[in-house]
Amino acid sequence: MPFQTEIGTQISEAVKWLQQGQIVGIPTETVYGLAGNGLDTQAVSRIFEAKNRPFFDPLILHVADLTSVYNCVREFPEEAKKLALAFWPGPLTLVLPKSDQVPDLVTAGSSAVAMRIPQHPMALALLRELSYPLAAPSANPFTYVSPTTAQHVYDQLQGKIPYILDGGNATIGLESTIVSFADGPARVLRLGGISLEALWNVLPKLQVDIQFAPKGTESPGQLDHHYAPRCALIPLDSLTENLDAQANLLLFSQKSEDPTGSHIHYLSPQGDLNEAAAALFSLLRSFDDRQLDRVYFEWAPQEGLGRAINDRLSRAQKK
Ligand code: TXA
Ligand code: MG
Repeated sequence: MPFQTEIGTQISEAVKWLQQGQIVGIPTETVYGLAGNGLDTQAVSRIFEAKNRPFFDPLILHVADLTSVYNCVREFPEEAKKLALAFWPGPLTLVLPKSDQVPDLVTAGSSAVAMRIPQHPMALALLRELSYPLAAPSANPFTYVSPTTAQHVYDQLQGKIPYILDGGNATIGLESTIVSFADGPARVLRLGGISLEALWNVLPKLQVDIQFAPKGTESPGQLDHHYAPRCALIPLDSLTENLDAQANLLLFSQKSEDPTGSHIHYLSPQGDLNEAAAALFSLLRSFDDRQLDRVYFEWAPQEGLGRAINDRLSRAQKK
């Protein structure tokens, strides 16, 4: 059924649609989500349908507090609790053995569920109004760049959903970091808004298991070209001496030796990793809006959020 999609700031309006089993765009501090009642398989299938997402790719459940996490999980290992205490509410997702109340559709048949308490005040206020968790993937069509504004969501899902709750620009701008406690030693499955360094401060032995080439479907967000804009992204390190003066460049920070001109885009002129992360997805979208064919990019420093920025750039470059 086509909708007249509205953008607004009324939590009660989002609640109204959710209670009817519909799905809505919601702000979080990482990226905007496409949310529905995570315990209602019909609402959950609407999410897959609107995103054009394959059913083998499981969804994250969002809740407002630890009590609600406990309702969705069968076990909450001590190490996972340490991370929860340190980083929730915030851009961290924990994969934990699921309880019976979580539908298999949410976890794509896995016995573990991904849980997150987001930090965005509007997301928390909405979740507190509800008696169920919100299943919410990023609110972009499958394989496209995640949205960091309500307008991004509107541009792509207009007509498919009734309402988008507008909470301003996503302040982190990269998806949550995912840590799995499902089987074997705890490990990081996706780099994101909480840096590895911050995680290692709490769990020094935490392993990292980021998949590039698809290997199974444990965290299919890690498929190559998952975050790809239409425009081709080419790393500057494989550069070609004769870059023409009209070439579009996406540079991490501003340096005195940079060429000048209107074709240079900076992630953060000052070289601030947080600012760069928050700018990345909007810039990638703007290249498509302007129908650029190709953009040459510079890697971020491989530290802190820079690792997650580079992860997204490297997936975006693969065509
Ligand atoms: O920041 C975020 O995490 C955003 C906001 C909206 O919360 N959400 C988000 O969702 O990025 P999505 O669906 O675009 O990415 C979630 C990733 C997917 O790669 C999925 O495979 C993985 O989480 N995932 C979900 N459930 C899982 C599970 N049970 N086991 C392993 N990986 C899981
Ligand atoms: Mg996504």
